[in-house]
Amino acid sequence: MDSYEQGRGRLLTSARPLPDFEVVGSQGPWLHCAGDTWIFDGSSGLLCANVGQSSRKVRARVEQQFFQYSFGGAAVVRPHVQMELVNRLCHVVGRPDDSVALTTCGTLGVEVAVGLARNITRVRNGKQRGDILTSTLSYHGNSALTLALAGNHARRPRPEDAFGLGPAFPAPYPPTHAHETRDCDASCADEIATAIDNRGAENVAAVLIEPVNGSTGGAFVPPDGYLQRVSEICRQRDVLVLHDEVLTGMYRTGTPLASQHWEGCEPDMVILSKGLGAGYTSVGAVLVSPRIAPWLRHEDADPLPAMGTIATHPLMAAACLGVLDELETIHVTTFTARGERLGAALKDLRGVGPVTDVRGLGFLYGVEVAPGQLWPVMKAAEERGVLFYPFTGAGEPRSEGLVVAPPLISTDDDIGFLIAAVSDALASAG
Ligand SMILES: Cc1ncc(COP(=O)(O)O)c(C=O)c1O
Repeated sequence: MDSYEQGRGRLLTSARPLPDFEVVGSQGPWLHCAGDTWIFDGSSGLLCANVGQSSRKVRARVEQQFFQYSFGGAAVVRPHVQMELVNRLCHVVGRPDDSVALTTCGTLGVEVAVGLARNITRVRNGKQRGDILTSTLSYHGNSALTLALAGNHARRPRPEDAFGLGPAFPAPYPPTHAHETRDCDASCADEIATAIDNRGAENVAAVLIEPVNGSTGGAFVPPDGYLQRVSEICRQRDVLVLHDEVLTGMYRTGTPLASQHWEGCEPDMVILSKGLGAGYTSVGAVLVSPRIAPWLRHEDADPLPAMGTIATHPLMAAACLGVLDELETIHVTTFTARGERLGAALKDLRGVGPVTDVRGLGFLYGVEVAPGQLWPVMKAAEERGVLFYPFTGAGEPRSEGLVVAPPLISTDDDIGFLIAAVSDALASAG
Protein backbone atom coordinates (compact mmCIF):
# COMPACT_ATOMS: atom_id res chain seq x y z
CA MET A 1 0.00 0.00 0.00
CA ASP A 2 1.50 3.40 -0.90
CA SER A 3 1.62 6.25 1.60
CA TYR A 4 -1.42 7.99 0.06
CA GLU A 5 -3.54 4.88 0.57
CA GLN A 6 -2.25 4.49 4.14
CA GLY A 7 -3.04 8.13 4.91
CA ARG A 8 -6.54 7.80 3.44
CA GLY A 9 -7.60 5.53 6.27
CA ARG A 10 -5.93 7.74 8.85
CA LEU A 11 -6.91 11.28 7.90
CA LEU A 12 -9.92 12.58 9.82
CA THR A 13 -11.71 15.07 7.61
CA SER A 14 -15.26 15.64 6.36
CA ALA A 15 -17.51 12.63 5.73
CA ARG A 16 -17.56 13.48 2.01
CA PRO A 17 -15.50 11.13 -0.19
CA LEU A 18 -12.01 12.49 -0.94
CA PRO A 19 -11.77 14.02 -4.43
CA ASP A 20 -9.92 12.07 -7.07
CA PHE A 21 -7.95 14.81 -8.83
CA GLU A 22 -4.23 14.27 -9.11
CA VAL A 23 -3.04 17.84 -9.51
CA VAL A 24 0.43 18.19 -11.04
CA GLY A 25 0.48 21.96 -11.54
CA SER A 26 -1.61 25.10 -11.38
CA GLN A 27 -1.93 28.46 -13.03
CA GLY A 28 -4.24 31.17 -11.69
CA PRO A 29 -7.76 29.70 -11.52
CA TRP A 30 -6.77 26.51 -13.40
CA LEU A 31 -5.55 23.17 -12.04
CA HIS A 32 -3.39 20.97 -14.24
CA CYS A 33 -4.32 17.33 -13.61
CA ALA A 34 -2.49 14.08 -14.31
CA GLY A 35 -3.25 12.90 -17.85
CA ASP A 36 -2.75 16.49 -19.11
CA THR A 37 -6.27 17.73 -18.49
CA TRP A 38 -7.04 21.16 -16.99
CA ILE A 39 -9.88 21.87 -14.62
CA PHE A 40 -11.26 25.29 -13.71
CA ASP A 41 -11.65 26.04 -10.01
CA GLY A 42 -15.28 27.23 -9.91
CA SER A 43 -15.37 27.77 -6.12
CA SER A 44 -11.84 29.10 -5.47
CA GLY A 45 -10.95 25.98 -3.50
CA LEU A 46 -12.85 26.38 -0.26
CA LEU A 47 -13.98 29.91 -1.25
CA CYS A 48 -10.50 31.17 -0.48
CA ALA A 49 -8.11 30.86 -3.46
CA ASN A 50 -9.27 34.32 -4.53
CA VAL A 51 -6.16 35.35 -6.46
CA GLY A 52 -5.61 31.95 -8.05
CA GLN A 53 -2.78 29.52 -7.36
CA SER A 54 1.02 29.71 -7.69
CA SER A 55 1.20 33.52 -7.59
CA ARG A 56 4.65 34.94 -8.23
CA LYS A 57 3.82 38.02 -6.20
CA VAL A 58 3.01 35.91 -3.13
CA ARG A 59 6.14 33.83 -3.65
CA ALA A 60 8.34 36.93 -3.88
CA ARG A 61 7.00 38.32 -0.60
CA VAL A 62 7.35 35.01 1.28
CA GLU A 63 10.83 34.35 -0.12
CA GLN A 64 12.07 37.79 0.86
CA GLN A 65 10.72 37.42 4.41
CA PHE A 66 11.95 33.84 4.72
CA PHE A 67 15.58 34.85 4.25
CA GLN A 68 15.24 37.91 6.47
CA TYR A 69 13.82 35.90 9.38
CA SER A 70 11.22 33.18 9.32
CA PHE A 71 9.89 33.39 12.87
CA GLY A 72 9.38 36.39 15.08
CA GLY A 73 6.08 36.97 16.84
CA ALA A 74 5.16 40.47 18.00
CA ALA A 75 6.47 39.58 21.47
CA VAL A 76 9.90 38.55 20.08
CA VAL A 77 11.11 41.06 17.49
CA ARG A 78 9.91 44.39 16.08
CA PRO A 79 6.98 43.20 13.95
CA HIS A 80 7.63 45.29 10.82
CA VAL A 81 5.94 42.97 8.34
CA GLN A 82 2.86 42.65 10.53
CA MET A 83 2.67 46.44 10.86
CA GLU A 84 2.84 46.82 7.10
CA LEU A 85 0.03 44.29 6.78
CA VAL A 86 -2.36 45.83 9.30
CA ASN A 87 -1.82 49.34 7.91
CA ARG A 88 -2.39 48.27 4.34
CA LEU A 89 -5.33 45.98 5.14
CA CYS A 90 -7.25 48.74 6.92
CA HIS A 91 -6.88 51.01 3.91
CA VAL A 92 -7.83 48.30 1.40
CA VAL A 93 -11.13 47.61 3.16
CA GLY A 94 -11.93 51.29 3.73
CA ARG A 95 -11.56 51.31 7.54
CA PRO A 96 -8.36 53.35 7.85
CA ASP A 97 -8.61 54.09 11.58
CA ASP A 98 -9.39 50.59 12.85
CA SER A 99 -7.33 48.54 15.31
CA VAL A 100 -6.51 44.96 14.28
CA ALA A 101 -6.00 41.62 16.02
CA LEU A 102 -4.32 38.94 13.90
CA THR A 103 -5.19 35.26 14.37
CA THR A 104 -4.42 31.95 12.70
CA CYS A 105 -7.75 31.24 10.97
CA GLY A 106 -11.36 32.34 10.59
CA THR A 107 -12.62 30.30 13.54
CA LEU A 108 -10.10 31.88 15.85
CA GLY A 109 -10.90 35.30 14.41
CA VAL A 110 -14.50 34.82 15.53
CA GLU A 111 -13.37 33.58 18.95
CA VAL A 112 -11.12 36.62 19.40
CA ALA A 113 -13.92 38.96 18.27
CA VAL A 114 -16.20 37.38 20.90
CA GLY A 115 -13.57 37.99 23.56
CA LEU A 116 -12.97 41.59 22.45
CA ALA A 117 -16.72 42.31 22.41
CA ARG A 118 -17.07 40.99 25.95
CA ASN A 119 -14.10 43.05 27.16
CA ILE A 120 -15.47 46.22 25.59
CA THR A 121 -19.05 45.90 26.78
CA ARG A 122 -17.90 44.95 30.30
CA VAL A 123 -15.70 47.98 30.75
CA ARG A 124 -17.91 50.39 28.75
CA ASN A 125 -21.38 49.27 29.88
CA GLY A 126 -20.78 47.13 32.94
CA LYS A 127 -22.30 44.09 31.18
CA GLN A 128 -21.61 40.78 32.84
CA ARG A 129 -22.76 37.68 30.95
CA GLY A 130 -21.54 38.68 27.50
CA ASP A 131 -23.97 36.65 25.35
CA ILE A 132 -23.38 36.63 21.59
CA LEU A 133 -26.52 36.31 19.43
CA THR A 134 -26.43 34.62 16.01
CA SER A 135 -28.92 33.60 13.31
CA THR A 136 -30.46 30.23 12.50
CA LEU A 137 -28.67 30.07 9.15
CA SER A 138 -25.06 30.76 9.99
CA TYR A 139 -21.61 29.25 10.23
CA HIS A 140 -18.85 30.86 12.25
CA GLY A 141 -16.18 28.14 12.48
CA ASN A 142 -15.56 24.67 13.81
CA SER A 143 -14.38 25.15 17.40
CA ALA A 144 -16.72 24.02 20.17
CA LEU A 145 -17.68 27.66 20.92
CA THR A 146 -18.31 28.78 17.34
CA LEU A 147 -20.27 25.62 16.52
CA ALA A 148 -22.34 26.16 19.65
CA LEU A 149 -23.07 29.76 18.67
CA ALA A 150 -24.01 29.20 15.03
CA GLY A 151 -27.15 27.78 13.47
CA ASN A 152 -25.62 25.33 11.01
CA HIS A 153 -27.48 22.16 11.96
CA ALA A 154 -25.56 20.07 9.43
CA ARG A 155 -22.31 20.77 11.26
CA ARG A 156 -23.77 20.70 14.77
CA PRO A 157 -26.65 18.25 14.59
CA ARG A 158 -27.22 17.92 18.35
CA PRO A 159 -29.03 20.85 20.02
CA GLU A 160 -27.41 20.01 23.38
CA ASP A 161 -23.99 20.79 21.84
CA ALA A 162 -25.07 24.43 21.60
CA PHE A 163 -24.54 24.66 25.40
CA GLY A 164 -27.65 26.85 25.42
CA LEU A 165 -25.83 29.54 23.41
CA GLY A 166 -27.20 29.78 19.90
CA PRO A 167 -28.76 30.46 17.54
CA ALA A 168 -30.98 33.29 18.78
CA PHE A 169 -32.97 34.73 15.85
CA PRO A 170 -34.18 33.66 12.39
CA ALA A 171 -32.09 34.56 9.37
CA PRO A 172 -34.10 36.74 6.95
CA TYR A 173 -34.24 34.12 4.21
CA PRO A 174 -37.16 32.01 2.96
CA PRO A 175 -36.05 28.55 4.11
CA THR A 176 -35.66 29.59 7.72
CA HIS A 177 -38.17 32.44 7.95
CA ALA A 178 -41.31 31.83 5.92
CA HIS A 179 -44.12 34.40 5.91
CA GLU A 180 -47.63 33.77 4.67
CA THR A 181 -48.26 36.99 2.76
CA ARG A 182 -44.92 38.67 2.13
CA ASP A 183 -41.22 38.14 1.49
CA CYS A 184 -38.58 38.77 4.12
CA ASP A 185 -37.82 42.48 4.47
CA ALA A 186 -35.96 44.88 6.77
CA SER A 187 -38.59 44.41 9.48
CA CYS A 188 -37.33 40.84 9.99
CA ALA A 189 -34.54 42.52 11.99
CA ASP A 190 -37.11 43.29 14.69
CA GLU A 191 -36.74 39.66 15.79
CA ILE A 192 -33.23 40.60 16.89
CA ALA A 193 -34.66 43.35 19.09
CA THR A 194 -36.99 40.76 20.63
CA ALA A 195 -34.11 38.29 21.15
CA ILE A 196 -31.98 40.95 22.89
CA ASP A 197 -34.87 42.20 25.02
CA ASN A 198 -35.82 38.66 26.06
CA ARG A 199 -32.30 38.00 27.35
CA GLY A 200 -31.98 41.51 28.78
CA ALA A 201 -29.68 43.92 26.92
CA GLU A 202 -27.42 43.97 29.99
CA ASN A 203 -26.57 40.30 29.27
CA VAL A 204 -25.82 40.66 25.56
CA ALA A 205 -22.40 41.77 24.30
CA ALA A 206 -22.93 41.47 20.55
CA VAL A 207 -24.89 40.28 17.55
CA LEU A 208 -22.70 38.23 15.20
CA ILE A 209 -23.87 37.90 11.58
CA GLU A 210 -22.63 37.11 8.09
CA PRO A 211 -23.77 40.23 6.17
CA VAL A 212 -24.21 38.04 3.08
CA ASN A 213 -24.77 34.36 3.74
CA GLY A 214 -21.86 32.10 2.78
CA SER A 215 -21.88 28.39 2.18
CA THR A 216 -24.48 27.37 4.80
CA GLY A 217 -27.52 28.50 2.83
CA GLY A 218 -25.76 29.21 -0.47
CA ALA A 219 -25.17 32.98 -0.83
CA PHE A 220 -28.47 34.42 0.38
CA VAL A 221 -28.46 38.24 0.18
CA PRO A 222 -30.30 40.12 2.95
CA PRO A 223 -33.30 42.32 2.12
CA ASP A 224 -32.45 46.00 1.54
CA GLY A 225 -32.41 47.91 4.80
CA TYR A 226 -32.02 44.77 6.95
CA LEU A 227 -28.40 45.29 8.00
CA GLN A 228 -29.02 48.96 8.70
CA ARG A 229 -31.96 48.05 10.92
CA VAL A 230 -29.80 45.48 12.76
CA SER A 231 -27.22 48.20 13.45
CA GLU A 232 -29.89 50.63 14.73
CA ILE A 233 -31.46 48.03 17.01
CA CYS A 234 -28.08 47.10 18.47
CA ARG A 235 -26.92 50.70 18.92
CA GLN A 236 -30.11 51.54 20.84
CA ARG A 237 -29.29 48.71 23.25
CA ASP A 238 -25.50 49.18 23.58
CA VAL A 239 -24.99 45.85 21.84
CA LEU A 240 -22.06 45.57 19.41
CA VAL A 241 -22.44 44.38 15.80
CA LEU A 242 -19.83 41.89 14.59
CA HIS A 243 -19.78 41.08 10.88
CA ASP A 244 -18.30 37.70 10.04
CA GLU A 245 -16.77 38.42 6.63
CA VAL A 246 -14.44 35.41 6.77
CA LEU A 247 -15.89 34.25 3.45
CA THR A 248 -17.36 37.43 1.96
CA GLY A 249 -14.58 39.90 2.76
CA MET A 250 -11.77 41.06 0.43
CA TYR A 251 -13.92 41.65 -2.68
CA ARG A 252 -15.66 38.24 -2.85
CA THR A 253 -19.05 39.95 -3.31
CA GLY A 254 -17.62 42.71 -5.50
CA THR A 255 -16.86 45.30 -2.79
CA PRO A 256 -14.01 45.15 -0.25
CA LEU A 257 -16.58 44.21 2.42
CA ALA A 258 -19.99 42.75 1.65
CA SER A 259 -21.70 45.24 4.01
CA GLN A 260 -20.52 48.05 1.71
CA HIS A 261 -23.32 47.18 -0.71
CA TRP A 262 -25.62 49.06 1.68
CA GLU A 263 -25.57 52.39 3.54
CA GLY A 264 -25.59 52.77 7.30
CA CYS A 265 -24.51 49.33 8.44
CA GLU A 266 -20.83 49.72 9.19
CA PRO A 267 -20.16 47.18 11.96
CA ASP A 268 -18.21 47.64 15.17
CA MET A 269 -15.94 44.72 14.23
CA VAL A 270 -15.24 42.79 11.05
CA ILE A 271 -13.65 39.35 10.91
CA LEU A 272 -11.65 38.51 7.78
CA SER A 273 -9.82 35.36 6.80
CA LYS A 274 -10.29 33.37 3.61
CA GLY A 275 -9.69 36.11 1.03
CA LEU A 276 -6.87 37.65 3.05
CA GLY A 277 -4.71 34.53 3.07
CA ALA A 278 -6.26 33.52 -0.27
CA GLY A 279 -5.34 29.90 0.35
CA TYR A 280 -1.61 30.70 0.63
CA THR A 281 -1.66 30.93 4.38
CA SER A 282 -3.88 30.35 7.32
CA VAL A 283 -4.79 33.72 8.80
CA GLY A 284 -7.55 35.69 10.46
CA ALA A 285 -7.92 39.38 11.24
CA VAL A 286 -10.38 41.17 13.51
CA LEU A 287 -10.83 44.84 12.66
CA VAL A 288 -12.14 46.99 15.50
CA SER A 289 -13.71 50.38 14.90
CA PRO A 290 -12.05 53.46 16.45
CA ARG A 291 -15.37 54.21 18.21
CA ILE A 292 -14.82 51.25 20.54
CA ALA A 293 -11.16 50.19 20.32
CA PRO A 294 -9.94 52.64 23.03
CA TRP A 295 -11.99 50.69 25.61
CA LEU A 296 -9.68 47.72 25.09
CA ARG A 297 -6.82 49.74 26.56
CA HIS A 298 -8.86 51.24 29.41
CA GLU A 299 -7.20 50.81 32.81
CA ASP A 300 -10.12 48.69 34.06
CA ALA A 301 -10.30 46.47 30.95
CA ASP A 302 -9.62 42.72 31.13
CA PRO A 303 -6.46 41.39 29.42
CA LEU A 304 -6.67 41.35 25.61
CA PRO A 305 -7.83 37.95 24.31
CA ALA A 306 -5.48 38.29 21.34
CA MET A 307 -2.03 36.97 20.34
CA GLY A 308 -0.78 33.40 20.19
CA THR A 309 2.38 31.58 19.15
CA ILE A 310 1.68 31.74 15.44
CA ALA A 311 -0.90 34.55 15.33
CA THR A 312 1.46 37.18 14.01
CA HIS A 313 3.79 34.92 12.09
CA PRO A 314 5.97 36.91 9.69
CA LEU A 315 5.67 34.44 6.80
CA MET A 316 1.90 34.55 7.16
CA ALA A 317 1.94 38.36 7.08
CA ALA A 318 4.27 38.32 4.06
CA ALA A 319 1.95 35.98 2.15
CA CYS A 320 -1.00 38.27 2.91
CA LEU A 321 0.95 41.25 1.57
CA GLY A 322 1.54 39.26 -1.63
CA VAL A 323 -2.23 38.66 -1.83
CA LEU A 324 -2.84 42.40 -1.42
CA ASP A 325 -0.27 43.00 -4.20
CA GLU A 326 -2.33 40.69 -6.44
CA LEU A 327 -5.64 42.35 -5.48
CA GLU A 328 -4.13 45.74 -6.29
CA THR A 329 -3.71 44.65 -9.94
CA ILE A 330 -7.45 44.04 -10.33
CA HIS A 331 -9.08 46.67 -12.50
CA VAL A 332 -12.22 47.44 -10.51
CA THR A 333 -14.51 48.42 -13.42
CA THR A 334 -13.64 45.33 -15.45
CA PHE A 335 -13.91 43.13 -12.37
CA THR A 336 -17.35 44.55 -11.50
CA ALA A 337 -18.57 43.99 -15.06
CA ARG A 338 -17.35 40.37 -14.98
CA GLY A 339 -19.21 39.72 -11.73
CA GLU A 340 -22.40 41.22 -13.18
CA ARG A 341 -22.04 39.14 -16.33
CA LEU A 342 -21.62 35.98 -14.25
CA GLY A 343 -24.59 36.86 -12.02
CA ALA A 344 -26.88 37.65 -14.97
CA ALA A 345 -25.96 34.41 -16.77
CA LEU A 346 -26.50 32.30 -13.65
CA LYS A 347 -29.82 33.98 -12.82
CA ASP A 348 -30.98 33.15 -16.36
CA LEU A 349 -30.59 29.49 -15.38
CA ARG A 350 -33.49 29.65 -12.90
CA GLY A 351 -35.90 26.89 -13.94
CA VAL A 352 -33.38 25.23 -16.27
CA GLY A 353 -33.09 21.49 -15.54
CA PRO A 354 -32.95 20.97 -11.76
CA VAL A 355 -32.28 24.64 -10.86
CA THR A 356 -34.76 25.95 -8.29
CA ASP A 357 -33.10 29.28 -7.39
CA VAL A 358 -30.02 31.41 -7.99
CA ARG A 359 -28.90 34.22 -5.68
CA GLY A 360 -25.74 36.11 -4.84
CA LEU A 361 -23.59 39.12 -5.60
CA GLY A 362 -20.30 39.93 -7.31
CA PHE A 363 -18.23 36.73 -7.48
CA LEU A 364 -20.40 34.69 -5.06
CA TYR A 365 -23.55 32.79 -6.12
CA GLY A 366 -25.62 29.91 -4.82
CA VAL A 367 -27.21 27.78 -7.55
CA GLU A 368 -29.81 25.72 -5.74
CA VAL A 369 -30.96 22.45 -7.31
CA ALA A 370 -33.84 20.07 -6.61
CA PRO A 371 -33.22 17.55 -3.79
CA GLY A 372 -31.09 14.62 -4.91
CA GLN A 373 -29.65 16.44 -7.94
CA LEU A 374 -26.51 17.93 -6.41
CA TRP A 375 -24.04 15.07 -6.93
CA PRO A 376 -25.13 14.33 -10.53
CA VAL A 377 -24.74 18.07 -11.32
CA MET A 378 -21.29 18.20 -9.67
CA LYS A 379 -20.22 15.19 -11.73
CA ALA A 380 -21.61 16.67 -14.96
CA ALA A 381 -19.70 19.90 -14.22
CA GLU A 382 -16.46 18.02 -13.60
CA GLU A 383 -16.86 16.22 -16.93
CA ARG A 384 -17.08 19.68 -18.51
CA GLY A 385 -13.90 20.85 -16.77
CA VAL A 386 -15.19 22.74 -13.73
CA LEU A 387 -14.83 21.91 -10.07
CA PHE A 388 -17.36 23.23 -7.52
CA TYR A 389 -17.81 23.30 -3.76
CA PRO A 390 -21.35 22.27 -2.77
CA PHE A 391 -23.66 23.74 -0.15
CA THR A 392 -26.07 21.53 1.73
CA GLY A 393 -27.82 23.93 4.01
CA ALA A 394 -31.16 25.09 5.18
CA GLY A 395 -34.80 24.13 5.13
CA GLU A 396 -36.60 20.82 5.22
CA PRO A 397 -35.80 18.96 3.04
CA ARG A 398 -32.38 20.58 3.18
CA SER A 399 -31.64 22.86 0.26
CA GLU A 400 -28.56 22.01 -1.75
CA GLY A 401 -26.62 23.35 -4.66
CA LEU A 402 -23.38 24.67 -6.09
CA VAL A 403 -21.43 27.60 -4.72
CA VAL A 404 -20.25 29.39 -7.84
CA ALA A 405 -17.35 31.56 -6.70
CA PRO A 406 -14.47 31.71 -9.19
CA PRO A 407 -11.14 33.32 -8.32
CA LEU A 408 -11.35 37.11 -8.53
CA ILE A 409 -8.50 37.21 -11.07
CA SER A 410 -10.51 35.16 -13.62
CA THR A 411 -10.42 36.66 -17.11
CA ASP A 412 -13.35 37.28 -19.47
CA ASP A 413 -12.47 34.03 -21.23
CA ASP A 414 -12.42 32.15 -17.91
CA ILE A 415 -15.84 33.50 -16.96
CA GLY A 416 -17.19 32.64 -20.42
CA PHE A 417 -15.86 29.09 -20.05
CA LEU A 418 -17.38 28.78 -16.57
CA ILE A 419 -20.81 30.01 -17.70
CA ALA A 420 -20.86 27.66 -20.70
CA ALA A 421 -19.76 24.64 -18.63
CA VAL A 422 -22.19 25.17 -15.76
CA SER A 423 -25.11 25.91 -18.11
CA ASP A 424 -24.43 22.75 -20.10
CA ALA A 425 -23.96 20.64 -16.96
CA LEU A 426 -27.29 21.84 -15.50
CA ALA A 427 -29.17 21.37 -18.77
CA SER A 428 -27.80 17.84 -19.09
CA ALA A 429 -28.83 16.98 -15.53
CA GLY A 430 -32.42 18.12 -16.12
C1 LIG B 1 -18.58 32.68 7.56
C2 LIG B 1 -17.47 31.84 8.10
N1 LIG B 1 -17.01 32.07 9.34
C3 LIG B 1 -16.01 31.35 9.87
C4 LIG B 1 -15.42 30.32 9.16
C5 LIG B 1 -14.30 29.53 9.78
O1 LIG B 1 -13.08 29.82 9.16
P1 LIG B 1 -11.87 28.75 9.19
O2 LIG B 1 -12.31 27.57 8.40
O3 LIG B 1 -10.71 29.50 8.59
O4 LIG B 1 -11.61 28.43 10.61
C6 LIG B 1 -15.86 30.04 7.86
C7 LIG B 1 -15.27 28.93 7.10
O5 LIG B 1 -15.82 28.42 6.16
C8 LIG B 1 -16.92 30.81 7.31
O6 LIG B 1 -17.41 30.57 6.10
